[in-house]
Amino acid sequence: MIEFLRETLGPHYLVVKFVHVFAVMAWSWSTAIAYTSYLKPAYLKWRKNPDDPILEQRRDWAFEQFDRGAVVEHTAFPVLLLSGGLLFVLGNWNLDFHWLLFKLSIVVLVFFPIEVADYWLSHMGGNKYRIRTRGTPEKYQRYIQHHWKFFRITTPLITIFMPLVIFLAIVKPAFI
Ligand code: HEM
Repeated sequence: MIEFLRETLGPHYLVVKFVHVFAVMAWSWSTAIAYTSYLKPAYLKWRKNPDDPILEQRRDWAFEQFDRGAVVEHTAFPVLLLSGGLLFVLGNWNLDFHWLLFKLSIVVLVFFPIEVADYWLSHMGGNKYRIRTRGTPEKYQRYIQHHWKFFRITTPLITIFMPLVIFLAIVKPAFI
């Protein structure tokens, strides 16, 4: 299987790398503006005045649109994992490259669990549109709070580890 991949895709290493980097771009930035400029202000404004129905409606709209918009990030993530795995095999990389070991440890220990929770919150059991149309109002409020807590926990982690992973991949520092 590995030999077959090397024979067929080996000559196209740079195309695979393009796919990897393009997926990294989509994964890393596609929700940033929606979060900082729409979802977060909508939530914080509602929290200052929780009895205002307009603010509540705006908050709910922002969360539901955010769930939809996360499709770009969540399509890019498996593509970057797959293309990263291909680069690893095709380029004869191994974990003696410490930058790569460090990078993959961050991907497995930080990003993988975050993304699993994020898929669930955005598209599966935690999808706000589905809960609004098929669940109860109490459940809806609960899941808005769950999702907000998820953002509060993951935002600092992503702010630190996402640039770090990209730095490691591009600079490939020899000192670690
Ligand atoms: C959040 C996840 C990831 C991010 C942000 C990321 C980011 C990047 C970036 C920006 C590059 C380009 C480096 C350059 O052009 O010099 C790169 C290269 C690379 N990535 Fe990833 N990557 C991720 C996941 C993975 C995974 C899961 C693997 C392997 C299973 C992987 C394996 C590689 C390899 C081997 C290269 C080196 C390609 C080369 O320089 O020829 N990556 N990565």
